[in-house]
Amino acid sequence: MRILIASVCLCWGSVANSASLLGLPARTPVQTASGTEGIVVSNCDIASQIGADVLAEGGNAVDAAIATGFALAVTWPEAGNIGGGGFMMVAPPDQDVVCVEYRETAPSSVKADSLAKWTNRRHERMVGVPGTVAGFWLAHQKYGKLPWKRLVQPAAQIAAEGIVVDEYLAWSLNNYLSQQNIQTDNRYAEFRRVYGPPEKQFWEAGDRLVQLDLKKTLFLIAEQGPKAFYDGVIADQIVDQIQRGDGWIAKEDLKKFRAKVRPAIHGRIRGVDFYGAPLPSSGGTTVLMELRMLDELGLKKDEQHFWSADHVHLMTEVMRRAFRERAAHLGDADFVEINPSVWSDKHARALVKNINPQQATPSAEIVGDIEITIGPYESPQTTHFSVIDKNGMGVSNTYTLEASFGSGIVVKGAGFLLNNEMGDFNPVPGRTDTRGRIGTKPNLMAPGKRMLSSQSPVIIKQDGQVKLLVGSPGGRTIINTVMEILVQTLFFERSLTEAVDGPRFHHQWLPDVLRLETDPTLPENMKSLLEERGHTVSQRNDSRQGSAHSIEVDLPTGVATGVADWRRGGAAVRVEKESRRLRQQ
Ligand code: DON
Repeated sequence: MRILIASVCLCWGSVANSASLLGLPARTPVQTASGTEGIVVSNCDIASQIGADVLAEGGNAVDAAIATGFALAVTWPEAGNIGGGGFMMVAPPDQDVVCVEYRETAPSSVKADSLAKWTNRRHERMVGVPGTVAGFWLAHQKYGKLPWKRLVQPAAQIAAEGIVVDEYLAWSLNNYLSQQNIQTDNRYAEFRRVYGPPEKQFWEAGDRLVQLDLKKTLFLIAEQGPKAFYDGVIADQIVDQIQRGDGWIAKEDLKKFRAKVRPAIHGRIRGVDFYGAPLPSSGGTTVLMELRMLDELGLKKDEQHFWSADHVHLMTEVMRRAFRERAAHLGDADFVEINPSVWSDKHARALVKNINPQQATPSAEIVGDIEITIGPYESPQTTHFSVIDKNGMGVSNTYTLEASFGSGIVVKGAGFLLNNEMGDFNPVPGRTDTRGRIGTKPNLMAPGKRMLSSQSPVIIKQDGQVKLLVGSPGGRTIINTVMEILVQTLFFERSLTEAVDGPRFHHQWLPDVLRLETDPTLPENMKSLLEERGHTVSQRNDSRQGSAHSIEVDLPTGVATGVADWRRGGAAVRVEKESRRLRQQ
């Protein structure tokens, strides 16, 4: 069996010039890989290869996703994790699509306003009870074929051997390490010890990052499963760390954590079946709401340009309304009653009624009964990966530490980062402000409750077969990134490669600003055309929205194409019959 890195190679420079401190590495072509034997697309070539190795050995898409997920905890520490949580959409052949949900929970000692006056987002207090290890274990129990140990071991091995730092990892680590409080505050001493470059100031592409503590932790997880993490040596290390740092998670909170298998959010749209992540992610419901509104508006391809100013205007109006509904209604459905009619066709019809095709509706005009105060913005990092195997089983997985490197807190001696997901709860009851902070009831903090997420791993099926696997990082922008890829592929019949490559934009009701990527393929006067319609447009040269590592299947031939987004690094790897195994040396 052989694994090939397909077509265009990601060329990591040998010197850190473009990985220097603040500028992201230069744009590269979208990288793709096609085949019928299985594809893995993730943020890092070695993590994709580890997943593809698993497929080549007879593992299925869930096995490969688990192996890739553990590997990313080593290769992409800003978001790949065992100290965070997420959503794994699984499409087993001939069965319903489900979501293995492993979102973090609030510790048992919190109250609705426990973080109302809290400002330090890089602190033990911001940590939710981590879900990733329990989620991967549950997915394995339900769907896995290869032994658990076989899926965790490659990650432990690369942690021990060290990984070659590429341009994106050098950029990501340098960027974080250069921040003043990370450099000086004792709270982040373990971060500096674990992720600081040996004997120099900054990482350069080509350096090696060895993570021996993480190797020990992964080895324990490989040997003992989730028990080590939730009720064993690692649990003790986590609780010691949290208590030293004045945080809230107690041993009991870890013991009580459970991942869950939940039905996907399902809807028919333009002849296909949409399956999205259910609550506590707002992703599935909000993307579906947006698609339904666009369908209702009859959005169709513009022969001149796939993103005309008319399209961007209409889509922005749809985003604005969907995000208002998200704020009004959505939270953890195990704690608050949520009426599914929110994402129904009927509601979509009602919501589009007051859209003016020529003029922006100020967000302040559609607040409804939400009280607004004049007055933080979600930070980007999370990571998404997609897997398909030769039997057509698909996995679309998004997981996160919330901010880049989460809380910045590395568990002492255990070598992994803890999330700062508590910041996804609405922090101040009753205070919704024009800068985008939400204070509505459904997403207020409570013991054991899961904070509302925007993660939107999606599976699209046509005639019962997996057609698309899509997802992205990016906080609230995730919802719109995914929706824009689906609009291009399902409404405009563009290829997935074109759709991932193309420019993105984002509006989230509040703040009332339309953010637009800068891209040579956008009409030059796009910004002014939108301003003429009354939008406040922000377009920065360096803005990059999301990183959507996705897969499309050409159903007549069964050939799958993995597309690695260019925005933050990434690699699509295919499995070939009768191939030899390739590994990074
Ligand atoms: O679950 C959520 O919606 C956020 N914690 C995700 C944060 C995120 O995507 C940051 N990344 N790029």
